[in-house]
Amino acid sequence: MSLGASEGPLPGGSEPFEIYLAWSERTLVVGPEERALEVLLRAGVPIEPGCQTGGCGDCATAYLEGDVVHKDGCLNGDDRKRYFCPCVSRARTRIVLAV
Ligand code: FES
Repeated sequence: MSLGASEGPLPGGSEPFEIYLAWSERTLVVGPEERALEVLLRAGVPIEPGCQTGGCGDCATAYLEGDVVHKDGCLNGDDRKRYFCPCVSRARTRIVLAV
């Protein structure tokens, strides 16, 4: 499955943000026209891309800190304290992932 711009408008994001990969000590930048999922996959992070619309939870990834803007429709309130769906969600700050 491709993750290109031809799959529709980005889900509300336009501000770039950083993702810090805690275990591999790498910083990634999600540009205004990118989804976090495609940036993570490009970096080799093993995430299962499912629906890519925030509905299935297959891509849910644990984060340790950061102000995530949740745009999925599958995680509940408790889940959102620890996980985000990079296929649709973004962040207001740098986020740190437990990967
Ligand atoms: S791929 Fe389905 S919620 Fe992200």
